[in-house]
Amino acid sequence: MSATMPATNVASATRIPSKRTILMCRPDFFTVNYRINPWMHPEDPTDTSLAVRQWESLYRVYLDLGFDVKLVDPIDGLPDMVYAANGGFVLDNIAYGASFAYPERQPEGPAYMKWFAANGFDVRKPQSINEGEGDFLLVGDVILAGTGFRSATDSHRELFRIYGREVVSLELINPSFYHLDTAIAVLDPDPAEGEQANIAYLPSAFNGEGLAILAERFPDAILVNEEDAAVLGLNSFSDGYNVVIASRAKDFERQLRERGYNPIGVDLSELLLGGGGVKCCTLELRR
Ligand code: ARG
Repeated sequence: MSATMPATNVASATRIPSKRTILMCRPDFFTVNYRINPWMHPEDPTDTSLAVRQWESLYRVYLDLGFDVKLVDPIDGLPDMVYAANGGFVLDNIAYGASFAYPERQPEGPAYMKWFAANGFDVRKPQSINEGEGDFLLVGDVILAGTGFRSATDSHRELFRIYGREVVSLELINPSFYHLDTAIAVLDPDPAEGEQANIAYLPSAFNGEGLAILAERFPDAILVNEEDAAVLGLNSFSDGYNVVIASRAKDFERQLRERGYNPIGVDLSELLLGGGGVKCCTLELRR
């Protein structure tokens, strides 16, 4: 009998979901009245009640997945507060606060830090400009850290000092993908011992140095096309099996399915007008 050994196939891996704890902010005061990224057009109207309904559909998906979803109160006059991922970075029960690049969003930093403190996190006031989990992604034991448009490289050093984890800096080069979470999706939040967590990314968002790092560290990564990236398809949130993505990111959806993930599409078209998607609305809280 000629037994053919099954190839170790990333596609056939068993995906195990794990319940996440996250923080979200209802877009009660969402609008676009300033422009700090190319997606934003203050001259165009926005529909706040549609934004709320779309956000609620994401909220319900998370509840159905069994996630523990905490809420921070939205503040009138801070329309981008809905993008909770930018409110900080939380790991080992330590909340590293955000210090926003643009004055329009600066008051969000203290608002989120207040929530972290009131909810039992050890809050570290930031010394450097950083936009939290928008630019910092935990992949296994490593923190991938974006720079180029928002978070300063000084913040990467601060991250290392606070968490003692390896921090890998990646420079973003396309203004439409100005936060790392618009260009990279973390697919395996809790990889099993000895297993490499996988990611998906948009190659054209990175310079040559970054591409070399990504190719070396993540040889099995899903490469996402421009079309899917242009609906912020990468701006997604995974529990290890279920991956909540933009419903319009069809090729990414197909690739996820092929690899044994369960993509769940949501439509956040109104929040896309502010330049954010699924992941932007989601801040992971790791105790
Ligand atoms: N209008 C917001 C900004 O430009 C969108 C933030 C999106 N958040 C994210 N995590 N990518 O700052």
